Amino acid sequence: MTTLLYNPRAILTCAAGGKLYAKGDDFGTCNILTGSSVVIEDDIIKSIIPTPEKTENFENVIDLTGKTLLPGFIECHTHLVFAGNRINEFKMKLEGATYEEIAASGGGINTTVLAVRNATEEELLDSAIKRVEKFIRQGVTTIEIKSGYGLSYDDELKLLRVIKKLGEVCGIDVAATFLGAHTFPPEYKSDHGAYIKLITQKMLPAIADENLAEFCDGFCESSAFSPAEISQVFDTAASLGLKLKLHTDQFNRIGGLATAIKYGAVSADHLEVAEDEECDIISASETVAVLLPGVSYFLNYDYAPAVKLKNKGAVVALATDFNPGSSHITNIPFLMSLASRKMGLTFENIINAWTINAAYALRRSDNTGSVEPGKKADFAVLDTDDYREVFYNVAENLNVMTIKNGRIIYKA
Ligand code: NIG
Ligand code: FE
Repeated sequence: MTTLLYNPRAILTCAAGGKLYAKGDDFGTCNILTGSSVVIEDDIIKSIIPTPEKTENFENVIDLTGKTLLPGFIECHTHLVFAGNRINEFKMKLEGATYEEIAASGGGINTTVLAVRNATEEELLDSAIKRVEKFIRQGVTTIEIKSGYGLSYDDELKLLRVIKKLGEVCGIDVAATFLGAHTFPPEYKSDHGAYIKLITQKMLPAIADENLAEFCDGFCESSAFSPAEISQVFDTAASLGLKLKLHTDQFNRIGGLATAIKYGAVSADHLEVAEDEECDIISASETVAVLLPGVSYFLNYDYAPAVKLKNKGAVVALATDFNPGSSHITNIPFLMSLASRKMGLTFENIINAWTINAAYALRRSDNTGSVEPGKKADFAVLDTDDYREVFYNVAENLNVMTIKNGRIIYKA
């Protein structure tokens, strides 16, 4: 079927001159078209044409007069399958406890691990579907979701099966990431080697065998995995064909970023405490710097050096990091405002960081993340004729239509 996305006020193509990511000048512009409409053939963008006077030739016409059309947002870092909540710990944080103190006393990630181990696959799926729907209502058409709250063979595979199911039932693309190296579960607290063996000898082979994850992630931090421990996990994951990601430089600089780069990780996420040295090495690589303003807000500490990273030439993406402990935030417009106000990124940087560059952080920007012929017909439609309203209307969702593979999957 041929569909015409007719007469939007503007199209933010977020095309980076044919490249797979935007940096430098490309990062500073969303490549805006006016007077244009988009032709979709089935699920693929066929062409961008001058808005025609007559539309009878098209089987299906979606009138976008007065609206702003842009690529569907790519949410490239979430932990959205979990059970329970961490409200008590959030209150402790407001009263002065730090994330690391709570983790050291047995809480934090392990609080959620306990809840997940006690939850059924069905319970996890039900709550996760509602969360994915929140993202779809904001114009998200591809979402990455990590495991990492099971930390046993059965419970990690349970989470990954839920993530796979989400991809089948939610109507958007789901990228699955195995995060067994999130923290050491209580039963392996004093035997790290045994837990790493469990990951490398049991979990990873089974996950690869069942094709349950595309990426392998880890948390490289004083309170979690050392660079040497991450290397063991990465060696096995890479040999099984998984692409690599790493949570690193969130609280301490312990060499995690250099490890991620050495292994050719597709992204290094967090970087709140990165200094010049880290900014330099990531800028010289194709590893995407995935920055997470929600964490800095939720934990009330430093924001990642976004402007320094972009000026040095790193590929910068943004994401919610939605999770129960460090960023219980699904509101992308709010985080976009933080990225502009607190990180100093421009409006155009932020939109590119949530579209083309986020797609590159999932190595999917060859087929999504920008409005270009040949890519998937994935779009967000904003109810404004001026995209800057997204930032001016702090935390307001202006998305009124989400189009996935050429079909309307959400309409306000
Ligand atoms: O991205 N840093 C480690 N992992 C998550 C937090 C997970 C949690 O606290 O539940 C993050 O911030
Ligand atoms: Fe995270």
